[in-house]
Parts: sequence; C-alpha cells; structure tokens
Amino acid sequence: MLSSCLCAAAESGTSRIPVAEPWWKGAVIYEIFVRSFQDSNGDGIGDLNGITSRLDYLRDLGVDAIWLTPCYPSPLIDFGYDVADYKAIAPEYGTLADFDRLVAEARKRNIRIMLDLVLNHTSDKHAWFQESRASVNSAKRNWYSWQDGKAGGLPPNDWKSEFRGSAWTLDAATGQYYFHRFWPEQPDLNWRNPEVRNAMFDVVRFWLKRGLAGFRLDAVPSMFEDPNIASPSESFDQMPETHQVLRQLRAVVDEFPGDRLLLGETYTNNAAELASWYGKGNEIHLPLNFQFDLVNHVSAPEFRQRLADEQHNLPKAWPAHFLSSHDQSRQIDRYRDGAHDEAIAKLMATLLLTARGTPVMNYGEEIGMRTMTPTRVEDVRDMDGIRNWPEKKGRDGERTPMQWNEEATAGFSNAKPWLPVPPNTTTINVAAEQTDPSSLLNFYKQLTRARRSSAALKYGTYHEMDAGDPDILAFVRKDGVSNQRVLIVLNMSPNPRTAKFPALVGQKMRALVNTGGRNADAADDGIRLSSFGAVVLELK
Ligand code: NOJ
Ligand code: CA
Repeated sequence: MLSSCLCAAAESGTSRIPVAEPWWKGAVIYEIFVRSFQDSNGDGIGDLNGITSRLDYLRDLGVDAIWLTPCYPSPLIDFGYDVADYKAIAPEYGTLADFDRLVAEARKRNIRIMLDLVLNHTSDKHAWFQESRASVNSAKRNWYSWQDGKAGGLPPNDWKSEFRGSAWTLDAATGQYYFHRFWPEQPDLNWRNPEVRNAMFDVVRFWLKRGLAGFRLDAVPSMFEDPNIASPSESFDQMPETHQVLRQLRAVVDEFPGDRLLLGETYTNNAAELASWYGKGNEIHLPLNFQFDLVNHVSAPEFRQRLADEQHNLPKAWPAHFLSSHDQSRQIDRYRDGAHDEAIAKLMATLLLTARGTPVMNYGEEIGMRTMTPTRVEDVRDMDGIRNWPEKKGRDGERTPMQWNEEATAGFSNAKPWLPVPPNTTTINVAAEQTDPSSLLNFYKQLTRARRSSAALKYGTYHEMDAGDPDILAFVRKDGVSNQRVLIVLNMSPNPRTAKFPALVGQKMRALVNTGGRNADAADDGIRLSSFGAVVLELK
C-alpha cells in the first residue's frame, strides 16, 4: 500500500516537535566482542586499551556508541555471560582505570560507552552464589532459585535449559536443586527477592557514576519463571513481574542526566510482544527487534512485512534493529548468493542504516567479515560447541579476531590470537578497504555520513512506497520538523529492475548514496537499479 501523505507540508499528527531528541535515537550503536577486537599487551586476547587505541577508526566509521560484551571477571564458561564480580574489569581485559580512560577518550570523539548487564544469572563462582549454596539457612539462600527434587532422585520438574539438558542441577552438599536457564555454571538469580534487585541496582549506579552511557540488558525475557513449577517447559517464562523490575531499573537509570540508555535483548515471538517491552515509555528505551534479523534471506516481501508490523505495533515507539551479533552467523553469510556478495552486503547495510530506528552493528560487519565455524571439536572454545558437539558447533565462528590487515594475526595481536584468524584476512581487512573507494567499509562510511546529515534518516517517519513489489523494497523517511524527505529504494533481487513511483513524477531528487541505480536524479521514467542495487535519494 502506498504511504499516506508524501507532500512537503507537515501533516498534523506526524510532525516532530522541535525538541532535542535523545542521543540514542539518531545514533549508530556498534557491538564489540571485547576479547576479539584489539589486543594491546601481546597475550592474544582483546582488551580495553586495545579498543581505546582504535577509537579513531570507530569515529571515522561514524559510530556514536559502543556496546562492550561482558568484560567483568568471569570463569568464561559462557565467555563473560557468567559474571563473577559486577563491579570490576577482568584482569585480562584491563582495569577500572583503563575503563575510565576508554570512557574519557571515547567522549573526546563523541562516542559513548555501554556495558552488557547480565541480569538473569551470575556465575556459580560469584560470591552471592557461593554464599547461597553454602547452607539452606544461608542469608543469601533466597537470592537464587532452590527447590527440593522429586522422589527417585529426579529434578523438581522437566524444565529445559537453553543450552542443554535439565534446567536444574543438584547441589550435593545441601541436597537441593538450583535453577539455571543457561549452563549449570550460570545459576538464575531470584528477582522476586528485593535484596537481589537492590544489589543489581547498586551495580547499575556504580557504572553510571563512572560515565557509562547505558546498558545492553542480557536475556530480559528469561528473568522470571512461573512460580507454579508444574507448568510446562515451553511456557515457564513469566513476563508481568519482569515489567515491574524494568520500571524500577528505568527509574534508577533516570536518576542520571544525559539520557542513559537501556537496550534490551528482547527475543520475542512477534512485534506485538515487542511493544510490551517499552512499557508506557517507562521501561526499556530500545528493545531489539529480533523479528527483523530472523529474516535470513534477501526478501522484499519479508522485510516489508517486518517493517509494516513495526508500524502497526510500534507507531509511537522507536525501533532498534540488528542483522548480526556474537550469537549468530555473520550477516554476509546469511544473505550472500555467491554471485553478488558485495552488492548484497551493501544492500543490507543500506536497509539497516536507513530503516526507521536505531541500527546496532556488529564489529567487522563493515568490512564483510565471514563466519569461520570450527571443523574440529578440539578447536572449539565456546562451551555450546564443546559440550554439544557435533550437533552444535558453537559461536566461535562469529567471534573471530577483527581483521585489521592482511598479516597472519590480522593486526589484532602480535601473539597467537585466542581464536584463529580467518585466512581470508589477506583480502578482507580494514587496511585494504580503507584505500579502496568502492569498498564495503567506505560504503558504510557513506551511509553513516548520510544519516548524520539527514534529520529524515535519523528521526523520520516511515512511509511504504513499493505497493507490494516482489523485488523492490522502497520507503520514504520524512522528518516532521524540517520536512526533509528521503526515498530509499532497495532491489532485493538479482534482476536489474526499474522502480517507478507515480506519486513522485516531477519530483527533483538528489542521491545521497547509490550502489548502481541509474537515472536516480530524474526518476519520472523510473529508477533503474542493478542487481541488488540500493539508492538513497533526498527529495528536493
Ligand atoms: C545472551 C547472550 O547474547 C549470549 O551470548 C549468552 O550465551 C546468553 N544470553 C546467556 O547469558
Ligand atoms: Ca590483551
């Protein structure tokens, strides 16, 4: 369906009030898997000082905020998502002083730093759990979920862990089972206990006082389980109490000036469920839309459907999108067809960076880093691959060292990197792409520059424009204050296509970004797009 009004005059009801928008609305957020970005001290492990040394690169790329995967002390059963101390930096990643320096150096470049907050569970080595498991009478017993087993040496019920097997592990010393949504080494906190809430809110204040811009909240939908332990394994998540905690957490974050951000790992079944994570504007600022990245092939109808779902379910709320993360194969491997890989990478980058909402990139996607899945169990480092081999190969493939140059260690380290460097670093690397004007890296820079210069791309409303075309996804972003309008046309097919927009006949246009669209500035006869071509046009 064609959009409502594309006229230059502001429509009532869609105008943006000219107030300063929170920084995160127009931002590009960049995820860094800390262990894999840059090693600074020659131990083969990425660290905070390494990231600080690469801030100029991130500034030039157009990054506004960095989300660091967990860098707290951890036994690394789940690469940091098993936190042993929430108020420290793991020695292999640096010190609190290094963290402060990273925040300060980033600020000089207008880049904000965010941390990952693992709310659902701690490490079994965390002092809280050690105390909890010490005795059934421990003052912290009720900080975790303990239950008696069933007769016959069985766990309390059949609830399954996300990674493998039962979600209950017997603690032989005290004879009770504890609940773990993930690995046994990741016991779930009992969020019904106000002491747990206060302890975690104390952690939140600790980091916000240090100048942190916000948190990515891990595994939000898993925080509460059904108190009725007879409920089936498929439906033990309990949302209502999670919302209460999120409102409390939001109030803590709002104690601090500067629009501190909550970005949520909110895996949901549909966009309607996603809407609930915003609360009444008093819970998560940016719940990530997992429906978007679930489209694992280039498809105009499917992405159009996801964008329409958002329009329908989140007309007022601000979406957040991503196409890759440290938990799933790299986007180029999910979308490429073997014949037009580079064009497809640029097309998908254009979608991510022009859709209404805040884009969250994953480190290395800007140079087209590929997934390198281990082929031998002895090479695997992720427990999900080690313990579940060969059914699961783990997530090492998308966590390989950042490819800075063509050397054997990719410029990541001068020692042996903790994970092997993909051999394709000889051709896929920052140094090579920096000098090639048509590279994917330089294309991402064009996109972030276009966003920065355009209120419509940053804050604009969304208007569908393609009338259900099977190949072309097209939409207009329109800013209600400046009335700037930008047309995005994406050919999601290998066939060269001409996109016609009768509503725009006579309209003057200026290309902000163009990967092979011809006739883009005089579109009356249609915009001719090459295979998987993308154009971003300001409507004059
Ligand atoms: C989601 C994180 O992204 C993932 O890496 C981790 O294994 C689980 N949460 C458990 O914390
Ligand atoms: Ca290091």
